[in-house]
Amino acid sequence: MNIVIIGGTKGLGMVISKTISNKSDKLIITYNRDEFNATAALNELKKINKKTFLYQVDISDLKSIEHLKYSLTKRFGQIHILINNVGINQRERLSEITENSWNEIINTNLTGTFWTCKLFGEHMFENKTGSIVNISSTAGIKPFPKSYHYVAAKSGIISLTKALAKELSPFVRINSVAPGYIESPGKKKDLKLQQEIPLKRYGKAIEIAKTVSFIAKDATYITGQTIVVDGGMTL
Ligand SMILES: NC(=O)c1ccc[n+]([C@@H]2O[C@H](COP(=O)([O-])OP(=O)(O)OC[C@H]3O[C@@H](n4cnc5c(N)ncnc54)[C@H](OP(=O)(O)O)[C@@H]3O)[C@@H](O)[C@H]2O)c1
Repeated sequence: MNIVIIGGTKGLGMVISKTISNKSDKLIITYNRDEFNATAALNELKKINKKTFLYQVDISDLKSIEHLKYSLTKRFGQIHILINNVGINQRERLSEITENSWNEIINTNLTGTFWTCKLFGEHMFENKTGSIVNISSTAGIKPFPKSYHYVAAKSGIISLTKALAKELSPFVRINSVAPGYIESPGKKKDLKLQQEIPLKRYGKAIEIAKTVSFIAKDATYITGQTIVVDGGMTL
């Protein structure tokens, strides 16, 4: 299978990249600005799967997504799996949000996810097979303050996923995964918050990656759903 991970070069995306492919797959990862890190990620991933390839795309720019789709379908023919991992946030109070920050976060998180789903979803539909996983967040289910653009975008991804699942059926499955609080190097844990999570801990990136991989590849009778991976936090 040919697997594309948009934003697959760092953080959670990199863990998904390490987890999802096996030796018979081609793995295509993308970065946006950080070419240095992306090249290091490519070299690391090639040790796991030699058939790993790196591309650049800015999903806040439709032309850039169109160019990516054109380049990938020309080189690889068919794309079977797409993972939309990109997500940016800025913690801003209502009084701090500007037109620019609103537009940047909505364009990258929601509009970019829509266009990648449309372009690659239509391609998969024409080929009569495919699977898309969008990375949402529990912030799209149980919003937190100071991130109005982020929570709106992540909530939008959940609705978009449901709506697209109907139009892209019966050939293409599309689902989303909503992580809760995830451990990451350098991120300080809020111990009070941790006690409020029924499973009493933050999640690990590998727990999200395994869920994404299962939904993308193995969950052949699941479409239009959002799988919440949050230790029970949103209950
Ligand atoms: N980490 C958490 O606790 C958590 C919790 C809930 C949900 N999530 C969601 O999980 C996803 C991954 O989060 P993360 O923190 O692991 O992300 P991250 O480390 O910041 O990685 C983001 C990736 O997206 C790429 N990217 C950024 N802007 C882009 C753009 N405009 N166009 C194309 N690619 C772009 C980055 O490439 P460059 O660096 O090269 O620009 C990088 O490869 C996000 O959707 C996030 O909202 C995370």
